Amino acid sequence: MAKDRGSFSKIGFILAAAGSAVGLGNLWKFPYTVGENGGGLFVLIYLLSVIIIALPVLMAEICLGRHTQKNLVGAYEKIKPKTPWKLAGYLGVLTGLMILSFYSVIAGSTIGYFFKAITGQFTNITGTQAIEIYRGFSSNNILQIFLLALFIFITVYVVSRGVSGGIEKYSKILMPVLFGILTLLLIRSLTLKNAAKGVEFYLKPDLKALTPGLIVAAMSQAFFSLSLGMGTMVTYGSYVAKKENIPTSAGWIAFFDTAIAILAGFIIFPAIFSQGMDPAQGSGTMFNVIPVLFAKMPGGIIFCPLFFLLLSIAALTSTISVLEVPVAFVVDEKNWDRKKAAYIIGFISILFGIPSALSQGGVKFFSHLPLIGMGFLELWLLIWGSIALSIGAFFIATFIGYAWKTNGAIRELKQGAENFKLGAVWAVAIKYVAPILILLILISSIL
Ligand code: TRP
Repeated sequence: MAKDRGSFSKIGFILAAAGSAVGLGNLWKFPYTVGENGGGLFVLIYLLSVIIIALPVLMAEICLGRHTQKNLVGAYEKIKPKTPWKLAGYLGVLTGLMILSFYSVIAGSTIGYFFKAITGQFTNITGTQAIEIYRGFSSNNILQIFLLALFIFITVYVVSRGVSGGIEKYSKILMPVLFGILTLLLIRSLTLKNAAKGVEFYLKPDLKALTPGLIVAAMSQAFFSLSLGMGTMVTYGSYVAKKENIPTSAGWIAFFDTAIAILAGFIIFPAIFSQGMDPAQGSGTMFNVIPVLFAKMPGGIIFCPLFFLLLSIAALTSTISVLEVPVAFVVDEKNWDRKKAAYIIGFISILFGIPSALSQGGVKFFSHLPLIGMGFLELWLLIWGSIALSIGAFFIATFIGYAWKTNGAIRELKQGAENFKLGAVWAVAIKYVAPILILLILISSIL
């Protein structure tokens, strides 16, 4: 008798998967990446990447997980036992460990900013002061490491409690709260002076900005934001019942995730332009802009901490899903106790996270790595949060297209979705469109 791996309810799955997808990728990374890539054109190519590449891969991951009822390594192993495909599974597990390590540094900063906001440290601040405050905060090494460890610890706590009692329960409370606060902020930002300039920057595609780099950034952003390429959605899919409709669920997840990223842009860009700030200020954007926005808002003293609380929550439902990948692997394949697995893997990612924590300004070596010049966190984001995910998504698509074969996959997809008509279109996307585009984009990024 197989041990009980836990399961999601219908709405629980959509909320947990949307909770995984919606996170710092949408609220922190998306706006500054749009800013660095010149605005509207990036947004357009991002949307195309979501529809053409990411959505089919999302369905593929959930389908693979539900069919095998396994973590990523176990899923490869179940369909093609004793083949090198398993290595693609290990890549996913390693990627999870690494993403958790640097992601939790930024997530920890959102907790730090919550405390700064609630103790009134942002009252009446200007843009210049906000930048100063962030510089001081992010170069405080002890604090950065403490917040990293704290965030991973909270993640470990939830994951150790299992699928329905932990992950599902918290996602159901946290996701609706997030929507509410975002809507409020949107109204404030759009009614600021000069908001229209921000909206124009955000929406108007400038075709001159088109470079291979921009396309790579947009596609990787789509994978990162939808939590694809390392088996998160395979693992979550393994907790989904056969009666659930995968195509519809995947559609909702992609819709929520994209809507929130787009919304975040409508909050950040009007605020940046109304302050006369630079839209291309990199990873500090969120921390520099939001406190100023609230300082100008009636009730800002309440909404500002609320916002950072929201960011922490969104980040938490994501880190939970990242940690779940290596945890499900050792629980399924190595028979570890879930609690022990969560604590040990959490501890390892804290260690891996330390260079990222020190790269936020506190240690010159890590903030400007020799030879490459970029910071350690940025480098890790590029290697694990972009390249490794693209490679992982390539493996998942080719595995389903050529090893498992799309006919088997379509049969799985149709369970719970008897009238799903786009099976053939999906098969083309998984066998040809996604792998070819991923490969082209990866190669062009290396060149
Ligand atoms: N998608 C999340 C975000 O946008 C981050 C995340 C969670 C993730 N699980 C993942 C990214 C798996 C890549 C792979 O913040």
